[in-house]
Amino acid sequence: MKKEKLVTIEYPKSLISESYRTLRTNIQFSSFDSKVKTIVVTSSGPREGKSTICANLAVVIAENGYKTILIDCDQRMAKLHKIFNTSNEKGLSDFLIDNIQFSEAVQNTEIPNLDIITSGTKPPNPSELVASEKMKKFIEDLKETYDYIIIDTPPVIIVTDAQLISTYVDGCILVVASSQVEKATAIKAKELLQKVNARILGVVLNKMDVKQKSYSRYYYSGWKKLKK
Ligand SMILES: Nc1ncnc2c1ncn2[C@@H]1O[C@H](COP(=O)(O)OP(=O)(O)OP(=O)(O)O)[C@@H](O)[C@H]1O
Ligand SMILES: [Mg+2]
Repeated sequence: MKKEKLVTIEYPKSLISESYRTLRTNIQFSSFDSKVKTIVVTSSGPREGKSTICANLAVVIAENGYKTILIDCDQRMAKLHKIFNTSNEKGLSDFLIDNIQFSEAVQNTEIPNLDIITSGTKPPNPSELVASEKMKKFIEDLKETYDYIIIDTPPVIIVTDAQLISTYVDGCILVVASSQVEKATAIKAKELLQKVNARILGVVLNKMDVKQKSYSRYYYSGWKKLKK
């Protein structure tokens, strides 16, 4: 299995790792009224960087001393087990269809404070599974054990999963690969989330073309808070 490198672990002092720490701070300060504990990461289309951002965000939150769990809710293009080099024999889908206990579904990672639930056995009905009452209750129950629950999802324009999950989490982050996606497509993704009253915490601009900038050798992520 090919392991994708985690930049926040391999290059903690790089500009990109610093961007992830800035993202962490922005999320932590995104609301004074209600604490944001459960976060969905999605994007309009495929390969915009959702799983990469999810994984690195979870790492920097865990490094900050918060007990964090990362859940792979992308049953179609599951990726987190590859990034963390863990088994995906049992995971979320197996837990939700009652085959296994939570203790069998959750795995520790090498990073202190960070646990992971991989996607599990590919189900025939992913959308129904993630929209189920059991899933909703599961996320609620996790809040008793974990400070932060970070959820990776499929693209919002392609399938309904991210929209469905967004209705029962505290907030969602919209990843926009700015060099890859048309403005209208990104707006469409935002509208789909707003349609279900999802709370969009902000947009992460990923894969930005920063050739003109002095730090061009790094790939760069930026954060934009959505204007009301
Ligand atoms: N800022 C970036 N600069 C360059 N490459 C990136 C960046 N972010 C992610 N990538 C690369 O883009 C590819 C897709 O990333 P990733 O799997 O995280 O996207 P995704 O949105 O989760 O995709 P999918 O829709 O398949 O779930 C990976 O090879 C990843 O390493
Ligand atoms: Mg992904």
